[in-house]
Amino acid sequence: MFNFLKPKPKTARPTFAPLGIDIHCHLLPSVDDGSKSNEESIACLRIMHEAGFNKVICTPHYQYPRFPNEESDIQQRFADMKLDLASQGVSSVIPELAGVAGEYRVDTGFTDRMATNKFLLVGGHYLLAEFSLHQQVMGLDEILFELQMKNYEVILAHPERYPYYSSSSSKLQHFKDMSIYFQINILSLQGFYGEGPRRKAYEMIEKGWVEFLGTDMHNTLYAQALIDASHDHKIIKLLDTHKFLNSQVFSANAGEATKI
Ligand SMILES: [Fe+2]
Repeated sequence: MFNFLKPKPKTARPTFAPLGIDIHCHLLPSVDDGSKSNEESIACLRIMHEAGFNKVICTPHYQYPRFPNEESDIQQRFADMKLDLASQGVSSVIPELAGVAGEYRVDTGFTDRMATNKFLLVGGHYLLAEFSLHQQVMGLDEILFELQMKNYEVILAHPERYPYYSSSSSKLQHFKDMSIYFQINILSLQGFYGEGPRRKAYEMIEKGWVEFLGTDMHNTLYAQALIDASHDHKIIKLLDTHKFLNSQVFSANAGEATKI
C-alpha cells in the first residue's frame, strides 16, 4: 500500500557515453576474480549500458600461477557467453560484447608468454598490461622495450593504483617518454580505491598522460560504484572537457594516430 514511499533504486546516468567502449572488465564468468556467472555479468552489463557504454571488451586476468588462462579456452568461453546472453534476449539492455582480450600481469609467466607471442589484444591492437600492486617488476624497462621491438602497443592498466609510484611521478613520466599508454580506472576517480589513487588519477589526467578510461568491472559491488561515479559532478565535467581514445580502439591506425 505504501510502496510509493520507498526510495527507488538509483540508476546510472549516461555519463560515459562519450567513451562508448569499455576496454577493461572482468565479466567473462569464472575465469578469474571477476563475475561468477552469466547472471552476475548481465547485472553488471545492464548498469554499464545505463551508464552510457555501447560496447565492452572482456579482459580476464592472465596471471601466473593464480589465473593460468589460455587464449583458446578464453575465446571459446567468450563465444559461449555471447550465445547464452543472446538466447536470454537481453541484447537491447546491455552493451555489445565486442571482443575478448587479456589483462596480462607482468610476471614470470609473462616473460615465458612473450617468447610465444600468444596474446589476445584489445581491439586486436593493444596489449593491456598490469603490474603487481605490492612490488615493482624487476627488469621492467627491458621487458617493455622488447615488447615495443615486437611492435606491441602497450597500455598500462590503472597506473594510479600502484602504491610504489604514489609519492613520485618520475617513473610514470618515464613510461610516458617510452610511449606507454595509460588507462585509468573510472572507479579510482570516484574514490573506490581510496583517496591516494583518486588524487593520482586526476593528477595524471591533468598532465595529459591518460589516453583511456576503463571500468575494471568485476562484480555488482563495482557496478553500484559505477552508478555513483555516473552521478559524480567532477567526473561528469571531466568527460565533458577531456577527450579519451576508447572509441578508437578498433581503428587499425589508432596507435599510429595517438602515439606521443
Ligand atoms: Fe583488471
